[in-house]
Amino acid sequence: MGFVALGAVEQDSACRIGNRISYALRSPGGIEEVTKMSDFRADLCADRVALVTGGGTGIGRGIARALGEHGARVCIASRRSDVLEAAVKELEGDGIEAMWVPCDVREPDQVEAVIEAILARWGRLDIVINNAAGNFPAAIEGLSYNGFKAVVDIDLRGTYHVTKVAFERALKEGGGHIVNITAPFERMGVAFQAHVAAAKTGVDSLTRTCAVEFGPHGVRVNALAPGAIGGTEGMERVGGGDAGEARCPLRYVGAPLDIANAVLFLCSSAAAYISGQVICVDGGAAVGMMQIPPPGSDA
Ligand code: COA
Ligand code: NAP
Repeated sequence: MGFVALGAVEQDSACRIGNRISYALRSPGGIEEVTKMSDFRADLCADRVALVTGGGTGIGRGIARALGEHGARVCIASRRSDVLEAAVKELEGDGIEAMWVPCDVREPDQVEAVIEAILARWGRLDIVINNAAGNFPAAIEGLSYNGFKAVVDIDLRGTYHVTKVAFERALKEGGGHIVNITAPFERMGVAFQAHVAAAKTGVDSLTRTCAVEFGPHGVRVNALAPGAIGGTEGMERVGGGDAGEARCPLRYVGAPLDIANAVLFLCSSAAAYISGQVICVDGGAAVGMMQIPPPGSDA
């Protein structure tokens, strides 16, 4: 096998040199540092303003960075001010115009305050990434009522709050993009994830409804369903900390950059006719790994 992307932390730390990105590749002979040009134009998001919920860590952090590296001004919002402040410092250190606002997406008044702060500073909002979420593995037997509610409140109701306020206050007038970060649970039964699967498939449904309602206003609404993304809290929590192998056809774990690249695509004019879709970015995991070799085959 040739080189494969390592995924995980090394790629997450992709650094910007002009519009180049650096990341690690894993080969049979070890790890190789690679620097290459981004596949996207440096000014892809120029003049646009983006909000990334949960943008201080993990996948959201990767998305915020990628949007900023391609010209967007970026606001990140979540509960922990110290995390947000450090993330914004890092973005600013790389020449990205960024701001942070503390927010629990479960609270509509806090969500409204985020949108108002963005409009007060930059006067517009074009791209909304609903990435904030909570997850812990738990069987239904033993999961408290409040445990189920906490995750549905963050993932589904939080996405609804941010979407509604952003559309009513900003996107409705100028058009734009909403990308919901969901999970590839649409047609699966996933043990120990009743709360998460219920919330995320609700997000998938919301994605389709919003695409229909917002389409006439020039707002495209899509969702990305990551598979196993290395070096993230989400993967750590569901017990898949291994950065090397993954149970997917491509046989390796993805990186935040893989999700960020899909966001850039959806926010580009190359995706101008795509709306209402849930797109898996999972190394093919959603199609499974079933093999039915012919009799006598070694496969
Ligand atoms: N197993 C079972 N129940 C759990 C749990 C676990 N591992 N973790 C939390 N809960 C339950 C709590 O017991 C509580 O229920 P109770 O009041 O009946 O006891 C309920 O969930 C809410 O917990 P609490 O800690 O008060 O919620 P919070 O609002 O402070 O935090 C969480 C929300 C629980 C989702 C928390 O894990 C979180 O903040 N996650 C964000 C980061 C994350 O999950 N990243 C991965 C994204 S994929
Ligand atoms: P993460 O780093 O824990 O990201 C979750 C973010 O959400 C954190 O920054 C957190 O910040 C924020 N958040 C949590 N509760 C919030 C609330 N109530 N209000 C506002 N912000 C809140 O985990 P991740 O793995 O990168 O996950 C990012 C997204 O990808 C999630 O939507 C997740 O479901 C999805 N996903 C991840 C994987 C994976 O392999 N990692 C796979 C499938 C889907 P604060 O704590 O500061 O609030």
